[in-house]
Amino acid sequence: AQAGESLPRAPVVTVMGHVDHGKTSLLDYIRRAKVAAGEAGGITQHIGAYHVETPRGMVSFLDTPGHEAFTAMRARGAQATDIVILVVAADDGVMPQTKEAIKHAKAAGVPIVVAINKIDKPDASPDRVKQELVAEEVVPEEYGGDVPFVPVSAKTGEGIDALLEQVLLQAEVLELKAPVDAAAKGLVIEAQLDKGRGPVATVLVQSGTLKTGDVVLAGSTYGRVRAMLDEDGKPIKTAGPSIPVEIQGLTEVPQAGDEFMVMADERRAREIATYRAGKFRNTKLAKQQA
Ligand code: GTP
Ligand code: NA
Ligand code: MG
Repeated sequence: AQAGESLPRAPVVTVMGHVDHGKTSLLDYIRRAKVAAGEAGGITQHIGAYHVETPRGMVSFLDTPGHEAFTAMRARGAQATDIVILVVAADDGVMPQTKEAIKHAKAAGVPIVVAINKIDKPDASPDRVKQELVAEEVVPEEYGGDVPFVPVSAKTGEGIDALLEQVLLQAEVLELKAPVDAAAKGLVIEAQLDKGRGPVATVLVQSGTLKTGDVVLAGSTYGRVRAMLDEDGKPIKTAGPSIPVEIQGLTEVPQAGDEFMVMADERRAREIATYRAGKFRNTKLAKQQA
């Protein structure tokens, strides 16, 4: 790529829906992995970020928790995404966090693809799910709406190719592009303090290419990227547009939802981070004293 030139990029797809409707299981099937089985209580408690190579190109997925305690993560997922897959279990129908996910997707203005999951179950009722979604103004194409509905089973794999097909069709319409040969910019998806590794952050590169050794300003922290791991924990040296990656080397833990950018000048990055951190502290102090 020439410097700064925009090239087609992979869609970022966030999987949302009510607790236990099968979001992680669907992604597991797509990735041929076993994440859901290893989760404490089977509940997703963070945003998982994955990218998958399909015959028609790469897709990046963000998994979100459906538990009601994780509203903020659903909101962030919707913000970081190009397309939302709304998962609704065919034996359970539209539930509170289904409605909340619809609200976030509509607020973010991103297209929705509905996956009616668990159609292998004897008490599955895809038609009921359709009626209930119409009541939430998510209208299938067959009723004159513009939302693709795909019946699927994360257990048998039925319909999952068709689901990916619909996601890729939506992505084509969006004509997604980003500069590749440029300083990286993107979003912090989640971050925590790791006992051995210090602050670690999962970031989504939205444009440019992130490299080890880059100086990153992320919210009110900064640092030089010491190491990058892909979603399988494998070290990588570069991450281009739409790629989620875990980075080490920040001086503090950034906030999920913070924007990050690569800066040429480490001293300048530190100045801005310090200024922002100070402002944040002053605001908090001012609030406490008020
Ligand atoms: P949270 O992250 O906790 O919101 O849940 P989730 O939406 O990621 O659901 P998860 O993948 O953890 O699945 C919940 C349960 O439903 C698990 O026991 C899965 O094995 C089961 N399940 C998921 N998809 C299917 C399906 O298509 N058919 C059947 N029969 N069971 C499914
Ligand atoms: Na679950
Ligand atoms: Mg899950």
